[in-house]
Amino acid sequence: MVAIYGLAIMDVIKNRSGLRSRLKQWRFQNPEGTIALVPTMGYLHAGHLSLIERAREEADLVVVSVFVNPLQFNDPEDYQNYPIDLNRDEQACEQAGADIVFAPDRQEMYPEGEPLLQMSMPALTANLCGTARPGHFEGVLMVVARLLNCVQPDVALFGKKDYQQYLVIRRMVQDLDLPVRILGVETVREEDGRAMSSRNARLSSSGVQHATLIYRAMRIAEKAQRDGNSNAADLKEIIKDVIESGSLNRVDYIEIVDPDTLESMSALPGNSRFLIAVAVFCENVRLIDNILCEV
Ligand code: PAJ
Repeated sequence: MVAIYGLAIMDVIKNRSGLRSRLKQWRFQNPEGTIALVPTMGYLHAGHLSLIERAREEADLVVVSVFVNPLQFNDPEDYQNYPIDLNRDEQACEQAGADIVFAPDRQEMYPEGEPLLQMSMPALTANLCGTARPGHFEGVLMVVARLLNCVQPDVALFGKKDYQQYLVIRRMVQDLDLPVRILGVETVREEDGRAMSSRNARLSSSGVQHATLIYRAMRIAEKAQRDGNSNAADLKEIIKDVIESGSLNRVDYIEIVDPDTLESMSALPGNSRFLIAVAVFCENVRLIDNILCEV
């Protein structure tokens, strides 16, 4: 069978009704076709592009959303400073194989203003970024629910760099019984080990040097556990020392948690499976990263 699925030319659509009618038309022409959604806040880098490339393998039509969601920023300054470059994003999406870029503005995404419905998931947001960024996941859940509802994809892809976000969204989809598969994609890193992030663009060259300590610190702790140190408090201390040996770094949190429940772990005997998750202000830019440690 010869399948002609994707679109020849990438579409950029700015409103929900336009997106809905484009998708309806595509579904009519491709009744067996599958749709992938990659939600982003733009300023795309190789980490985002790996999600788009993976989406290309998973589905016949790839929709990338680009929307800086005000509801998920607990710090207004962080929202104001969030980098935006839609022209560059459109080109990157096209090269990575996207078919549709959905780029609504705030009014289009939330025409009624701030939603009155509150979505929260206390059990999975009681630590890590849940406590460090009050209201953040409530905003993420709302925008992702709206995007899923608008696109109705077969699969939606999320990076494990934002591991807590990935778990929270996966669980929302289970709890609401939404007919979409949530796929987690491994973190893409710079050669120096730093997790790729849109926020890296705000670092100076010495900031970059100091930020490399974040991943290095987590790997050192992982090795210490493999070498027999099973005390999570010790490992957190090691991580803190390594990260803060960079004078531009200030630790927001360092946690060692169960990768399924995100509950804190204190003892890490030999074959433990655990997630090290950190948030660090480097030159006042908040960077997060994590590694999953399993034998
Ligand atoms: P944003 O930070 O733009 O990230 C979009 C997606 O790219 C997320 O799923 C994120 O986990 C993934 N990603 C970011 N850096 C990555 C990396 N280095 N390797 C692999 N994947 C990476 O996350 C958001 O936007 C928003 O919260 C969103 C889900 C779009 C809701 O507004």
